[in-house]
Amino acid sequence: MQLSNSPSDAAEQLTIALSKGRILKDTLPLLHAAGIEPAEDPDKSRKLIIPTTDPGVRLLIVRASDVPPYVEHGAADIGVSGKDVLMEYNSPSLYEPLDLEIACCKLMTAGPVGKILPEGRIKVATKFVNIAKKYYASQGRQAEIIKLYGSMELAPLVGLADEIVDVVDTGGTLRANGLEPREHIADISSRLVVNKAAMKLRHQRISSLLEQLKAAVIAKRQTEC
Ligand code: ATP
Ligand code: PRP
Repeated sequence: MQLSNSPSDAAEQLTIALSKGRILKDTLPLLHAAGIEPAEDPDKSRKLIIPTTDPGVRLLIVRASDVPPYVEHGAADIGVSGKDVLMEYNSPSLYEPLDLEIACCKLMTAGPVGKILPEGRIKVATKFVNIAKKYYASQGRQAEIIKLYGSMELAPLVGLADEIVDVVDTGGTLRANGLEPREHIADISSRLVVNKAAMKLRHQRISSLLEQLKAAVIAKRQTEC
């Protein structure tokens, strides 16, 4: 196994930003199909830069919501990010060339079962402040948006908010907390994002990786049908 991660290699290496948890878990098989394996288990390692079996590729381990800035500013050439995070970040300077069809869920509003919203301005708790502002404005509803960083489901239970905006998959977390899904805002999956300058300067390398990942996505789709 050939490994590489010296700073002198960094300029030539393709740097891919990923977040631990479900994105990492679902992206690794796709990278494997493209011949890229992390040199150590990113879920167990405390390292934030992980070399791979491909000496031309290294992984950066970042928070899910930090993938877009790493890629936009060129600290990573490529990243994997949920469409929810990309919608919230809303940068015109990120290429989004491939839907990886992983970490699928829906972005929804939700609130206490059977509880009717008050008239007038409502309170909405979410980590997706920009998405929520845009959504309620598009519905012609006045909303005070309260920024939270997690456990949004708690907010309506303790009077912090009338509704939340969050991702829903099985609906289990909503049910466990006496909440119901209400309005559908968007279907979500994770996307490959690419830095614009890197796309130009390293076109061949990135295009060939893109083709390999696209083939892996299609192959996975076919085995699942
Ligand atoms: P951060 O650490 O930045 O707050 P996070 O905790 O939301 O991010 P993850 O929970 O790993 O990070 O979620 C990563 C992405 O996976 C989300 O942006 C979303 O697109 C998707 N996702 C989140 N929850 C689910 C779920 N329950 N089922 C499927 N996909 C999900
Ligand atoms: C996400 C999201 C919801 C839950 C929805 O939380 O914030 O709480 O998943 O999934 P469900 O509909 O299948 O219950 P996650 O599991 O990522 O926990 P975290 O946001 O606290 O990290």
